[in-house]
Amino acid sequence: MSAGDPSRVGSYHIHTWGCQMNVHDSEKLAGVLEREGYVPATSEDDADVILLNTCSIREKASEKVFSELGRLRRLKRTNSNMLLGVCGCVAQQEGENIYKRAPYVDLVIGPRAIDSIGPALASIRDGGRGALRVTDTEYRSDSIRFPFDEIRRIGESRAKAFVTIIEGCNHRCTYCIVPTTRGREVYRPMADVLQEVRVLARKSVVEIEFLGQTVNAYRDSEGNTLAELLTATAAIDGIRRIRFTTSHPAQMTERLMDAMAAAQPTVCAYLHLPVQSGSSRVLRAMRRGYDRETYLAKIEALRSRIPGMLFGTDIIVGFPGETEDDFLQTITLLDEVQFDTVYSFAYSPRPGTRALELDDDLPPAGKHERLQRLQEHQKGIQAARMATWLGRSVEVLVEGRSKRNEERWTGRTVESRVVNFVGDSAPGRLEWVEITETTPFSLAGRVRASDLDRRRLAPI
Ligand code: SAH
Ligand code: SF4
Ligand code: F3S
Repeated sequence: MSAGDPSRVGSYHIHTWGCQMNVHDSEKLAGVLEREGYVPATSEDDADVILLNTCSIREKASEKVFSELGRLRRLKRTNSNMLLGVCGCVAQQEGENIYKRAPYVDLVIGPRAIDSIGPALASIRDGGRGALRVTDTEYRSDSIRFPFDEIRRIGESRAKAFVTIIEGCNHRCTYCIVPTTRGREVYRPMADVLQEVRVLARKSVVEIEFLGQTVNAYRDSEGNTLAELLTATAAIDGIRRIRFTTSHPAQMTERLMDAMAAAQPTVCAYLHLPVQSGSSRVLRAMRRGYDRETYLAKIEALRSRIPGMLFGTDIIVGFPGETEDDFLQTITLLDEVQFDTVYSFAYSPRPGTRALELDDDLPPAGKHERLQRLQEHQKGIQAARMATWLGRSVEVLVEGRSKRNEERWTGRTVESRVVNFVGDSAPGRLEWVEITETTPFSLAGRVRASDLDRRRLAPI
């Protein structure tokens, strides 16, 4: 801890796993810590507080936390001041067990208790290490507020912000741990959300991404749904792009589709709509609440309203009882829909879920073999689809320097295509980029020559 600045109580470092909700929770944790006087650590080695914001969606993600803790235990031996905290979904799921498996952990905080991080750290420091351990396993689901959206940190681009509108999930998909870790749905009043968006817009944020595990289940006590929220947000001065994730196919209503179409091009022409399987039999066993035909009809209904709209999805292969024929139905669904982004996973059994009771005769190696086949197949589809962007000019919201190549900028198009490019630019700009190269996963190019000429005459 540095003695220079009396208001500085220490430095922090946060590791984040999991979904965008977790990424945003880390922004909120950072916001709370900074309000308490903490500053970001220059490196993990000299941080006073290290937080692991964890994910338990699959077994691997969950186990990674314990291997990370083992590594940090060694670091703690060399930095005796350091406090180690576990936050997020593993914290919620494992609770006190974390202290049993890793007694050197100082703090365990579930996702809905992140507001207690500041006082918890202060009291541990005052009373000696381990004096207070916070595990919030109780959900105050009817009364939860979302005060921390206001003290978030905005990412590097400063032009894009996440806004939580709904927490938790009321579905009961038979493979999924999220309802256990995040609790039942709670909704934020639309007036609060809009107030926050206005504040962000005044801070030059141009892209808003609404978040929720089932974001399109949003409804507030006044009867507003995501449809009304999109319409009202699109009318706010300065907001150029609106995204929302993750949507549940069963809750993609006609009314919501109409609102999306009416708010073009501000509502981005890309939707992440997890299908999980192309087999209606498997979808029923998963309790997804729709079948293959209904899913395909929703995609069609959106494409007919918003021409050029792109789609992404999540797939689970090797769900208990999935036959080769079921799997092949997922492959034909990929062919039919022509997704532009697919996140695919081998089924992973999770504690307390209904799928554990189903017979599962496909060993892990068989699941991974299907996963590989699916990924290879989708790679071919994406390569062909991405190649159609070659030679086009696209508008990119610049997020920052590319992590792989510091000489390039990186950002996204309205259709959520990642674009890496060269040329004079800066984070937060909306830039026109000519596409000169494509891969199955991203586009590459350069700032449009006419824009560069214009800038040389009138530098901005
Ligand atoms: N709320 C979102 C999904 C959130 S979890 C929805 O309903 O679509 C993100 C993804 O992880 C899921 O879409 C699913 O594809 C995957 N997933 C969830 N549980 C899993 C499990 N037990 N094994 C493998 N993948 C899983
Ligand atoms: Fe999990 Fe299903 Fe809820 Fe998504 S909708 S978070 S997959 S239970
Ligand atoms: Fe993981 Fe929790 Fe998100 S389990 S996917 S971090 S809601």
